[in-house]
Parts: sequence; C-alpha cells; structure tokens
Amino acid sequence: EKAGYKHFMLKEIFEQPQAITNTISGRINPETGEVDLPEINLDREAIESFDRIFLVACGTSWHAALIAKYWIEKFAHIPVEVDIASEFRYRNLLINERVLTVSISQSGETADTLAGIRRAKEMGSKVVTICNVVGSTMTREADGTIYTHAGPEIGVASTKAFISQLAALFLFTLYLAGKKETVSAEKRLELGKALINIAGVVDRELPRLRTDIENLIDDFWDCRDFLFVGRGLSFPIALEGALKLKEISYIHAEGYASGELKHGPIALIDKEMPIVALIPRDEVYQKSLSNVEEIKARKGRLILFGTEGDTHLEKLTDDVIYLPEVHEEMNPILYTIPAQLLSYEIASRRGCDVDQPRNLAKSVTVE
Ligand code: F6R
Repeated sequence: EKAGYKHFMLKEIFEQPQAITNTISGRINPETGEVDLPEINLDREAIESFDRIFLVACGTSWHAALIAKYWIEKFAHIPVEVDIASEFRYRNLLINERVLTVSISQSGETADTLAGIRRAKEMGSKVVTICNVVGSTMTREADGTIYTHAGPEIGVASTKAFISQLAALFLFTLYLAGKKETVSAEKRLELGKALINIAGVVDRELPRLRTDIENLIDDFWDCRDFLFVGRGLSFPIALEGALKLKEISYIHAEGYASGELKHGPIALIDKEMPIVALIPRDEVYQKSLSNVEEIKARKGRLILFGTEGDTHLEKLTDDVIYLPEVHEEMNPILYTIPAQLLSYEIASRRGCDVDQPRNLAKSVTVE
C-alpha cells in the first residue's frame, strides 16, 4: 500500500500535485478565475458584513493560517488575526457577529480547535472550517466548510494535507476578493491561473528536488541543531520546515522571521550551525539577502532555497537548492517541498520511524 515507497510520508509528498488538483478541481473556472465554494455558505452580503477574520488552528495547520493572513489581507482587504487554538480558546476574545472565524484542521477533531470554534459561535461569530475529513466533528459544527480533498494521510507528520490547506486558503482568498471586488477581474484570473499551474510545477520538480536533497544531507544529517529563516510568505514555511525536522528526526530546530535574527538568535550562529534560508526572488528578496549575508559573515553553514538563475547564491554557499520561478504568491507551496524532503531524508538516514514519530498522534483529541 506504500506503492513502492519506503514510507507513507514519502509517498504522500509525491502525491502533493494530485492533492492540489483535487482541492481546486471544479471550484475555479480556468477561463475567468472565478471561484465557487458552495459549501462555504457565505454570500456576498455576509462577506460584506465581516470586519475581521480569525484563523484558528494548531501545529502545521497554524502555519497554513499564517500564510493565509498575508493572502487575505493583501487581496481581500479584511484584517486577519491568526491564533493558536489552545490560546484562542482561553483568552479574552473580542468577537461578535461581524467576525468570521475560520478553523483549519486536517482531522477536524483537534480538541483545542474544536473548543475554539464552539466558543466563537457562542459569541455570535459565523464559523467556517477547512478540513480534510468528511463528516468530522468540526465540519458538522461549522456553518460552512471547505473540504481539502487531499485523500487520507497516513504519515503522522502532515505533508499533503498541509499543501491542500494552502490551496484551499488561496481559493478562499480568491472567493473573498471576487465577492468584495477588491482586486480586478484581470488580477483574479492571473492569481487563479497561478494556482492552477502550481500542481504541474511541483510534479515536474519533485524527482529532481529529491535527488538534490539526498546529495545535500551527507554533510548535515548528524547535526544537533538547525535554524530555518524566511521573510514574508517564506516566514511560515521556515516555521513549518523547523517543525517537520524536529518531529520526525528529533533534531532541535527553530524557525524565525529573517528580520528577527539580529534580535537574539544570531548569537547561536557559528561554523557548526546549519541555517536553511528561504530566499525566493520576491518583493522582499533584497532584505532577505542582507540577512543571509549577515549569517555568512558569522560563518554559519548556509543551505539556501532560491530561484533558478540566481547565481549570486552560489557565492554564499555550495549548498543551494534551486526552484523554478513561479508566481510569487505560489512560493509557499513550492518552497514547502524541499523543506519536507530535507526533513524526510535526514530522518530516514538517521533510521527514525518516519511515519510514526515517538510521542505524537495523528489526531489530538485531548487538550
Ligand atoms: C505536524 C502536524 C500537527 C497537526 C496538528 C493539528 O506535522 O501534523 O502539527 O497539524 O496536530 O492537527 P489538525 O490539522 O488535524 O487539527
């Protein structure tokens, strides 16, 4: 049932192009970019009435929420707050009927997230849930749903379910932007096409990325610590890369916003410390580059994920993983792939139980 793959996680990494396609199919018109999400139960009037959106999730799903904040604020012009569900459920919330609460949960059963949406509902908020499991508790309690349709995920560390959450959240953004007309029809078509095209890019690049990462880890698989850094849309992916590495390889790893390095973590950098920097050619590229140069000046062991053709990166380190240039809003989806493969290959080399890491459960139904 692993279809020739050594682990479910690797199989599921390779299923990601299909997962993206499943999430978006039938929901976006390739001619116009218009998005249809009938099960969301929010019409134009409801959307116009929201002055804030709360995104509530745990773990990897929380990282998806962090990316969605950038997308929704940029294209749908609605202020977004992102909360870790275990914090959301107990803090003093300022919620009323003008707030939309969106829970993001692969399983739809996570205790804290479920308690969070119950509380939001009690306070008058409409609740939408983005979920991979049809009929799960969260989908039954929400006013509307967006199913991710990634297919069952066996590996405890989420891969394809996360990628599908990103695709669903981008659809959600386009849906809001279309109803509110906050971006032109032309721009919506451009964004829609970017989403449609990304599955093909991931599919094409996956085998080559795996080989590149396999070659790279010889020098890194027995390290004790890792840092992951990124700016803008790459920041949540840095967090996700660090989480994936810790949970399956048991290597200590931290993710930071690149601009935060100088506020503390830079003290950790010496010639022993590997730092994975995500540095696509996007609108914050120059800023990210100066952060990377600071790391280089302190002799950190740089691993760079950057854009094909950006030969400047080779002057900074021998360890560069190149990714094709795609629409910049799609970079989080693309840059997740080498981060997943890096943790997978390292954990596998270390002989870890990749699909069932110690102390972790697929569905966290207790708080
Ligand atoms: C990590 C991972 C977890 C889950 C978290 C929330 O790889 O999978 O961090 O994302 O436990 O689970 P769901 O999405 O089911 O609410």
